[in-house]
Amino acid sequence: MTGLLFRSAGDVVGRLRREQDRTDRELAADAGLSVETLREVESGTPPTADELDSLGQALGVSPEAIQFLAGEFPDDLHRELLENPDTALDTLRDVLEGDGERPGEEGNGLGEEGDGLGRDETIGTEPQRDSHDSKGTGVRHDPVYETELGTLYDVDCRDLLPELEPESFDLVFADPPFNLDKDYGEGSDDDRPEEAYLSWCTEWIDDIVELVKPGGSLFLYNLPKWNTHLAHYTSQYLTLRDWITVDIKFGLPIPNRLYPSHYSLLYFVRGDSPNTFDPDRLPIDTCPHCGGEQNDYGGYKSKMNPKGVNLTDVWDDIPPVRHNKHLNRDANQLSIKLLHRVVGMATEEGDRVLDPFGGAGTTYAAAELMEREWVGTELHDCAPIVERLEGGLDDDRRRLREIEQELNVLFTESALEKRVEYRDEFGFNFDDYDLSASPAPIQQSLDSY
Ligand SMILES: C[S@@+](CC[C@H](N)C(=O)[O-])C[C@H]1O[C@@H](n2cnc3c(N)ncnc32)[C@H](O)[C@@H]1O
Repeated sequence: MTGLLFRSAGDVVGRLRREQDRTDRELAADAGLSVETLREVESGTPPTADELDSLGQALGVSPEAIQFLAGEFPDDLHRELLENPDTALDTLRDVLEGDGERPGEEGNGLGEEGDGLGRDETIGTEPQRDSHDSKGTGVRHDPVYETELGTLYDVDCRDLLPELEPESFDLVFADPPFNLDKDYGEGSDDDRPEEAYLSWCTEWIDDIVELVKPGGSLFLYNLPKWNTHLAHYTSQYLTLRDWITVDIKFGLPIPNRLYPSHYSLLYFVRGDSPNTFDPDRLPIDTCPHCGGEQNDYGGYKSKMNPKGVNLTDVWDDIPPVRHNKHLNRDANQLSIKLLHRVVGMATEEGDRVLDPFGGAGTTYAAAELMEREWVGTELHDCAPIVERLEGGLDDDRRRLREIEQELNVLFTESALEKRVEYRDEFGFNFDDYDLSASPAPIQQSLDSY
């Protein structure tokens, strides 16, 4: 059963406006409202009765229909529904599934004018995906930047997503603003009422889920506070495989609360199982000072996979990007290590990746260096992304090389060097482990002792 979770009247207005291919300025003018008022309504501020009337008129639907689509029923209908839910449902089904005529009325099918709900045929229809673009991609916006592998747009993702080919992406990664009152650029609104924020999220999630291929993956990165709701919402469409905890301290301690110290990364797949699931293995967790094991892994040293330990659903090795040297943009840039892991786990070379919230372009950098095709958009300043890509990605390439050297081995090179240094003091030995998968420098560092 599909719910109307988080819909608000403004959410419905925004969806209808986009379906009718009208800008907010156009609709505001037609409704006789200021564009600021319309934006506030679309951001979740409840419209006054007059505003709702004018918006309904401008959109060609009744105000009741807008409220109905937002999950609100007119009072008299609500009473009827509560008293006779079975009759109400049967009647609705008869009308929707039958010959389109209401009981007791003739020639008044849904979709025709004057059907009582004020509904016109635009409601619930699929957005047009194949209209008037010059390249036959279905996308009518011009890219702001292109590479051999990727295309970047500078538009609101809610305008772009409905134009992309359905079920055409192997991976979608979404790291939206978290509603923490950050300034992302002119016109950004990152401080909405809770319902409005969730409603905004469901708007782009509705479009994104359509774009994931069967067996493809969707990752949603956000605060646990939001992802509890979004996990539930998105599970209507995709299968939730894992809730990944990304252990990074952020913000300041909050009085009378535990110090927030993790983000949530939801991992969904379309259908029962992923087409690609190839997580990296990690080295044994060792003491940074002496190289000694932090865990005994059940004491089965000789039985351990020579490529390292299984990736768990708690990722505590992702560094925050704070150093100016690596910062491409001032707002919430993710570590390329996170994207390398996600892209590597869920896709193969040549697969297609979408990230609708470009930011500093970390997903696009990872996709370029890992030879995946990509599509992205960034509503505000795209210059940092373009500069990063045009600059040749040297810093990212160097970082990925370092990251890859520390994956799929039992010990990192530096851990082994430490173990050799403290071998006699702490009685470390190497005979118990199968180091055959370790790269040459690690083997050499052992041989030299
Ligand atoms: C948290 S940041 C993404 C950071 C990115 N993952 C990275 O590592 O560089 C979110 C970005 O989404 C952009 N944004 C906000 N609303 C948007 C929208 N409706 N469409 C496209 N981008 C949007 C913001 O300007 C911001 O740059």
